[in-house]
Amino acid sequence: MSAFVRAGVIGHPIKHSKSPLIHNHWIAEHGLQGEYTAIDIAPENLKEGVQKLIDNGFAGFNVTVPHKQEIFKLCENVDGKAKTIGAVNTVVVKNGTLHGTNTDAFGFMQNVHQSAFGLDFVHRPSVVLGAGGAARAIVYGLIEAGARQIIVTNRTEEKAKEIAAMNPDIVSVVSWSAREKMLRDAGFLVNTTSLGMVGKDALEIDLALLPNDAVVSDIVYAPLETDLLLQAKARGNQIVTGIGMLLHQARPAFEKWFGVLPEVTEALEKKVLA
Ligand code: ATR
Repeated sequence: MSAFVRAGVIGHPIKHSKSPLIHNHWIAEHGLQGEYTAIDIAPENLKEGVQKLIDNGFAGFNVTVPHKQEIFKLCENVDGKAKTIGAVNTVVVKNGTLHGTNTDAFGFMQNVHQSAFGLDFVHRPSVVLGAGGAARAIVYGLIEAGARQIIVTNRTEEKAKEIAAMNPDIVSVVSWSAREKMLRDAGFLVNTTSLGMVGKDALEIDLALLPNDAVVSDIVYAPLETDLLLQAKARGNQIVTGIGMLLHQARPAFEKWFGVLPEVTEALEKKVLA
């Protein structure tokens, strides 16, 4: 009989996390013995909170806001990907020590590969709006997949420059006010900002210059079809919604703890969006 496997997600706050829904769906789908729970740990209790998980025999856990950087200090080792992205979102417990990685770049690229037909981010420039943690993972994923030109634009230009430092030959920075001009030759446009999300400000961008065969993606998934995606769709651009990144980034984490690489199905997507 196989052992009961415990995993979860740590964050603060954490009650709105969709991760338990996703992982418990896969546990049931594969008939595994295990449970994935959401664990609220306040920043000042991170060390003790994580030790409790180790003591309780957790196989590992996901890490979300605000712990994605602080967790570095508690890890025995962090892989190169997580170091370059600057955030750990997945931890595996091995012999009582923590091993950190990041699955966001994988999640983004898998989703794009599965949802966009004929996307060319190798020969044509990609334009990335925003320069937060998600942008770093996405730029990392694009570079790893062979992108030759990525333009990052962000309200706070300094943060875009920090991302460009990842690979200055590939990544360049333009000012936020020039974002529309950059669309002229783009093959791929990605919004990584929180603009356009329910309750947040609108993302102001006119897609008039964007080629009609460019793909437009948004990591915001509430609403699923953001104003950016609706505008893109109306002018004939292919769109990729944000829910897929959330679902796909969970797959390699699940595999590390439960030993099975699960699939993203329509049933799972429906459940998470319900
Ligand atoms: P995440 O880690 O999820 O990417 P984040 O680090 O808070 O979240 O980044 C949010 C992104 O949305 C940033 O690029 C942010 O721009 P700043 O770096 O200038 O803060 C962007 N953003 C949020 N509100 C914005 C607004 N009103 N106008 C323009 N950009 C905004």
